[in-house]
Amino acid sequence: MSDQHHPPGVDTTAANPARMYDHALGGVHNFAADREHFARILREDPDARLVVAANRALLRRAVRYCMRQGIDQFLDLGSGIPTVGNVHEAAHQLDPRSRVVYVDNEPVTVAHTRRLLRETDNAAMVDADLRAPESVLRAAETRRLLDPDRPLALLMVAVLHWVTDAEMPGLLHRYTDVLAPGSHLVISHLTDDYRPGLMRRVGRLFEETRAPLVYRSRTEVADLFDGFDLVPPGVVHSADWQAQPYERLPAPERSKTWAAVGRKR
Ligand SMILES: C[S@@+](CC[C@H](N)C(=O)[O-])C[C@H]1O[C@@H](n2cnc3c(N)ncnc32)[C@H](O)[C@@H]1O
Repeated sequence: MSDQHHPPGVDTTAANPARMYDHALGGVHNFAADREHFARILREDPDARLVVAANRALLRRAVRYCMRQGIDQFLDLGSGIPTVGNVHEAAHQLDPRSRVVYVDNEPVTVAHTRRLLRETDNAAMVDADLRAPESVLRAAETRRLLDPDRPLALLMVAVLHWVTDAEMPGLLHRYTDVLAPGSHLVISHLTDDYRPGLMRRVGRLFEETRAPLVYRSRTEVADLFDGFDLVPPGVVHSADWQAQPYERLPAPERSKTWAAVGRKR
C-alpha cells in the first residue's frame, strides 16, 4: 500500500500487528514498517508465516464446520484485513444468504473492509474495540444483520492474546451469555507451551508494537469454553483442527496456536 492511500491519522511509521498479519498472508494493505517488523519476527521464528497460514486455514475450516451445523450468521471479533479467504467469502461459497458482522479497531482494516463490502448487503464492518462489548452488540450493523434468538457463530480467532487475564472472564461472558443455545464459539490462541524461550523473544518484538501478547496454555484455552461442549477433536494445534490428511503438518506444534470450537449448551 502506498503511503498516500490510507485513512487519515494512521501512523505509517509504526508497525501494527493487523498489517503485519496481512503482509504475512501475502496481502498488500501494509506499510514498510509492518514488513520490516515482520522480518524481525521471522528472524526469531522462521515458522512465523506457517503460524499465520495455519491459523487462517483453521478459520476457514471452522466456518465451514459451523455452516454444516446449520449456522448461517457470524460475529467475527478481531476480523483483520480481509486478505484472502475471509469469513464472508468462505460462508457465501456455501450459502450466499449467510450473514457476517466483522469487528476490528485497526483503521486500515476498517477502511479496507468497508470498501470491500460496499456491494454486499449481508456482511458489514463494525469499528469497535471488542473489549467494549456494548459498542459491538448495540451497533446498528450487528442489530441489522444478526438475529440473537437464533444460533450464531462467535469467532475470536487469533485475537484473545491481546486480552489480559483481568479483562477476560467478564468480557467473554458478556458475549456468550446472550447467545442462543446451539451457537458455536471458535477460538484460536497463541501459546508458549512449546518453545517458551523463542516465544518470549517474539513477545518482546510485539511489545515494541505496543500490542503485548498474552500467551495461554492448552488448559487455559479449554477453560474459555465455559458453558460450551467442545466438538471433536477438542483443543488441538490449529494445524490439526479437523484438518484433512493433506493439510496436516509433520510437526503441528510449530503452529504455536491452540484452536477449538464449542457448542453452547
Ligand atoms: C492476527 S489478526 C487475526 C485476524 C483474523 N481473526 C484471522 O484469524 O485471520 C488480529 C486482529 O484483531 C484486531 N484486534 C486486536 N485487538 C482488538 C480489539 N481490542 N478490538 C478489536 N479488534 C482487535 C487486530 O486489529 C487484527 O486485525
